[in-house]
Amino acid sequence: MKVRESDMPEEGLWKSFFSPDVILKKLGLTGKMHDAVDFGCGYGTFTIPAAKRIQGTLHGFDVEPDMIEASQRFVELQDLGNVRLYLRDFMADGTGLPDASVDYAMLFNILHAEDPVGLLSEAFRILHDGGTAGIMHWNYDPETPRGPPMNIRPRPEQCAHWAESAGFIISRRHIKLPPYHYGIVARKGKRQ
Ligand SMILES: C[S@@+](CC[C@H](N)C(=O)[O-])C[C@H]1O[C@@H](n2cnc3c(N)ncnc32)[C@H](O)[C@@H]1O
Repeated sequence: MKVRESDMPEEGLWKSFFSPDVILKKLGLTGKMHDAVDFGCGYGTFTIPAAKRIQGTLHGFDVEPDMIEASQRFVELQDLGNVRLYLRDFMADGTGLPDASVDYAMLFNILHAEDPVGLLSEAFRILHDGGTAGIMHWNYDPETPRGPPMNIRPRPEQCAHWAESAGFIISRRHIKLPPYHYGIVARKGKRQ
Protein backbone atom coordinates (compact mmCIF):
# COMPACT_ATOMS: atom_id res chain seq x y z
CA MET A 1 0.00 0.00 0.00
CA LYS A 2 1.31 3.43 -0.91
CA VAL A 3 2.40 5.36 2.18
CA ARG A 4 -0.17 8.02 3.10
CA GLU A 5 0.64 11.59 2.08
CA SER A 6 3.58 10.50 -0.05
CA ASP A 7 2.68 12.14 -3.36
CA MET A 8 5.41 14.30 -4.77
CA PRO A 9 5.15 17.95 -5.83
CA GLU A 10 6.70 19.18 -9.07
CA GLU A 11 10.30 18.02 -9.44
CA GLY A 12 12.05 21.41 -9.42
CA LEU A 13 10.26 22.46 -6.24
CA TRP A 14 11.08 19.17 -4.48
CA LYS A 15 14.75 19.33 -5.38
CA SER A 16 15.01 22.95 -4.20
CA PHE A 17 14.52 21.75 -0.60
CA PHE A 18 17.72 19.69 -0.37
CA SER A 19 21.49 19.65 -0.68
CA PRO A 20 21.74 15.90 -1.27
CA ASP A 21 25.54 15.51 -1.07
CA VAL A 22 25.73 17.37 2.23
CA ILE A 23 22.83 15.34 3.62
CA LEU A 24 24.25 11.98 2.53
CA LYS A 25 27.60 12.82 4.10
CA LYS A 26 26.01 13.93 7.37
CA LEU A 27 23.92 10.75 7.42
CA GLY A 28 26.98 8.53 7.16
CA LEU A 29 26.90 7.27 3.57
CA THR A 30 30.58 6.80 2.77
CA GLY A 31 32.56 5.93 -0.34
CA LYS A 32 33.72 2.72 1.39
CA MET A 33 30.21 1.29 1.31
CA HIS A 34 29.12 -1.29 -1.22
CA ASP A 35 25.40 -1.85 -1.82
CA ALA A 36 22.70 0.56 -0.63
CA VAL A 37 18.90 0.81 -0.79
CA ASP A 38 16.64 3.82 -1.25
CA PHE A 39 13.13 3.23 0.15
CA GLY A 40 10.88 5.43 -2.02
CA CYS A 41 13.34 6.85 -4.54
CA GLY A 42 10.95 9.49 -5.91
CA TYR A 43 12.73 11.65 -8.47
CA GLY A 44 16.08 10.06 -7.60
CA THR A 45 17.02 13.18 -5.60
CA PHE A 46 19.19 11.05 -3.30
CA THR A 47 19.39 7.84 -5.35
CA ILE A 48 21.63 9.37 -7.99
CA PRO A 49 24.16 11.13 -5.72
CA ALA A 50 24.23 8.07 -3.44
CA ALA A 51 24.98 5.79 -6.39
CA LYS A 52 27.91 8.02 -7.28
CA ARG A 53 29.35 7.72 -3.77
CA ILE A 54 29.18 3.96 -3.18
CA GLN A 55 31.25 1.14 -4.63
CA GLY A 56 28.40 -1.30 -5.27
CA THR A 57 24.80 -1.26 -6.45
CA LEU A 58 22.16 1.27 -5.45
CA HIS A 59 18.76 -0.43 -5.25
CA GLY A 60 15.97 2.14 -5.60
CA PHE A 61 12.33 1.22 -4.91
CA ASP A 62 9.14 3.08 -5.67
CA VAL A 63 5.49 2.14 -6.11
CA GLU A 64 4.81 4.90 -8.67
CA PRO A 65 5.72 4.19 -12.32
CA ASP A 66 6.28 7.95 -12.91
CA MET A 67 8.86 8.08 -10.14
CA ILE A 68 10.72 5.04 -11.47
CA GLU A 69 10.71 6.60 -14.94
CA ALA A 70 11.99 9.92 -13.62
CA SER A 71 14.81 8.23 -11.71
CA GLN A 72 15.64 6.05 -14.72
CA ARG A 73 15.98 9.18 -16.87
CA PHE A 74 18.68 10.55 -14.55
CA VAL A 75 20.42 7.18 -14.42
CA GLU A 76 20.66 7.24 -18.22
CA LEU A 77 21.57 10.92 -18.47
CA GLN A 78 24.44 10.37 -16.08
CA ASP A 79 25.34 6.99 -17.55
CA LEU A 80 25.34 5.24 -14.19
CA GLY A 81 25.91 1.51 -14.37
CA ASN A 82 25.28 0.73 -10.70
CA VAL A 83 21.60 1.58 -10.19
CA ARG A 84 18.77 -0.98 -10.14
CA LEU A 85 15.27 0.44 -9.97
CA TYR A 86 12.27 -1.62 -8.88
CA LEU A 87 8.59 -0.81 -9.35
CA ARG A 88 7.48 -2.43 -6.12
CA ASP A 89 5.37 -1.87 -3.02
CA PHE A 90 7.85 -2.34 -0.20
CA MET A 91 5.16 -1.94 2.47
CA ALA A 92 3.17 -4.89 1.15
CA ASP A 93 5.95 -7.02 -0.34
CA GLY A 94 9.21 -5.89 1.26
CA THR A 95 12.23 -5.37 -0.97
CA GLY A 96 12.82 -8.99 -1.93
CA LEU A 97 16.52 -8.47 -1.24
CA PRO A 98 18.36 -11.17 0.74
CA ASP A 99 18.96 -10.91 4.48
CA ALA A 100 22.15 -9.07 5.48
CA SER A 101 23.01 -8.00 1.93
CA VAL A 102 23.45 -4.20 1.95
CA ASP A 103 25.58 -1.64 3.80
CA TYR A 104 23.23 1.32 3.87
CA ALA A 105 19.46 1.95 3.85
CA MET A 106 17.95 5.34 3.03
CA LEU A 107 14.62 6.16 4.71
CA PHE A 108 14.09 9.71 3.58
CA ASN A 109 10.74 11.51 3.97
CA ILE A 110 8.92 8.20 4.38
CA LEU A 111 8.62 7.37 8.10
CA HIS A 112 5.17 8.95 8.38
CA ALA A 113 4.10 5.56 6.99
CA GLU A 114 1.20 3.69 8.58
CA ASP A 115 3.66 1.03 9.80
CA PRO A 116 7.03 2.70 10.37
CA VAL A 117 8.37 -0.13 12.52
CA GLY A 118 7.50 -2.65 9.79
CA LEU A 119 9.40 -0.53 7.27
CA LEU A 120 12.39 -0.14 9.58
CA SER A 121 12.31 -3.89 10.27
CA GLU A 122 12.65 -4.57 6.54
CA ALA A 123 15.63 -2.19 6.43
CA PHE A 124 17.10 -3.98 9.46
CA ARG A 125 16.64 -7.38 7.82
CA ILE A 126 18.51 -6.50 4.63
CA LEU A 127 21.39 -4.64 6.32
CA HIS A 128 24.65 -6.39 7.10
CA ASP A 129 25.63 -6.53 10.75
CA GLY A 130 27.23 -3.16 11.34
CA GLY A 131 25.20 -1.63 8.48
CA THR A 132 23.68 1.84 8.67
CA ALA A 133 20.21 3.29 8.23
CA GLY A 134 19.95 6.98 7.43
CA ILE A 135 16.62 8.54 8.41
CA MET A 136 15.57 11.99 7.31
CA HIS A 137 12.31 13.80 7.73
CA TRP A 138 10.66 17.21 7.69
CA ASN A 139 11.15 19.28 10.81
CA TYR A 140 8.28 19.10 13.26
CA ASP A 141 7.22 22.60 12.32
CA PRO A 142 3.98 23.62 10.60
CA GLU A 143 5.85 26.44 8.80
CA THR A 144 7.83 24.12 6.49
CA PRO A 145 6.81 24.62 2.85
CA ARG A 146 5.88 20.92 2.42
CA GLY A 147 5.76 17.80 4.54
CA PRO A 148 3.06 15.51 5.93
CA PRO A 149 0.25 17.00 8.03
CA MET A 150 1.35 17.63 11.61
CA ASN A 151 -0.93 14.93 13.02
CA ILE A 152 1.09 12.24 11.25
CA ARG A 153 4.48 14.00 11.03
CA PRO A 154 6.96 12.25 13.34
CA ARG A 155 9.30 14.05 15.70
CA PRO A 156 12.95 12.93 15.73
CA GLU A 157 12.57 11.17 19.08
CA GLN A 158 9.60 9.22 17.68
CA CYS A 159 11.65 8.05 14.67
CA ALA A 160 14.54 7.07 16.96
CA HIS A 161 12.14 5.10 19.17
CA TRP A 162 10.68 3.28 16.14
CA ALA A 163 14.21 2.46 14.93
CA GLU A 164 15.09 1.03 18.34
CA SER A 165 11.88 -1.03 18.28
CA ALA A 166 13.04 -2.50 14.96
CA GLY A 167 16.36 -3.51 16.56
CA PHE A 168 18.62 -0.59 15.65
CA ILE A 169 21.12 1.15 17.90
CA ILE A 170 20.97 4.92 17.48
CA SER A 171 24.34 6.55 16.70
CA ARG A 172 23.10 10.10 16.12
CA ARG A 173 19.69 11.15 17.44
CA HIS A 174 19.16 14.55 15.89
CA ILE A 175 21.24 15.99 13.08
CA LYS A 176 20.14 19.37 11.76
CA LEU A 177 19.73 19.34 7.99
CA PRO A 178 18.73 22.91 7.24
CA PRO A 179 16.63 24.49 6.11
CA TYR A 180 13.73 22.10 6.69
CA HIS A 181 14.88 18.64 7.75
CA TYR A 182 16.46 16.60 10.50
CA GLY A 183 18.35 13.33 10.37
CA ILE A 184 19.07 10.28 12.48
CA VAL A 185 21.78 7.66 12.00
CA ALA A 186 20.99 4.14 13.22
CA ARG A 187 23.19 1.07 13.19
CA LYS A 188 22.47 -2.62 13.04
CA GLY A 189 24.64 -3.80 15.92
CA LYS A 190 26.82 -6.80 15.43
CA ARG A 191 25.25 -9.88 16.93
CA GLN A 192 27.23 -11.28 19.91
C1 LIG B 1 7.72 11.85 -0.08
S1 LIG B 1 8.44 10.90 -1.38
C2 LIG B 1 10.18 10.91 -0.90
C3 LIG B 1 11.09 10.52 -2.04
C4 LIG B 1 12.58 10.46 -1.70
N1 LIG B 1 12.82 9.52 -0.63
C5 LIG B 1 13.09 11.82 -1.36
O1 LIG B 1 13.21 12.11 -0.16
O2 LIG B 1 13.37 12.59 -2.29
C6 LIG B 1 7.98 9.24 -0.98
C7 LIG B 1 8.15 8.27 -2.13
O3 LIG B 1 7.84 6.96 -1.67
C8 LIG B 1 7.06 6.31 -2.63
N2 LIG B 1 6.25 5.28 -1.94
C9 LIG B 1 5.19 5.51 -1.12
N3 LIG B 1 4.71 4.35 -0.67
C10 LIG B 1 5.46 3.36 -1.23
C11 LIG B 1 5.42 1.94 -1.13
N4 LIG B 1 4.50 1.32 -0.40
N5 LIG B 1 6.34 1.22 -1.85
C12 LIG B 1 7.26 1.86 -2.62
N6 LIG B 1 7.34 3.21 -2.73
C13 LIG B 1 6.46 3.96 -2.04
C14 LIG B 1 6.21 7.41 -3.25
O4 LIG B 1 5.72 7.06 -4.51
C15 LIG B 1 7.21 8.57 -3.29
O5 LIG B 1 7.93 8.61 -4.50
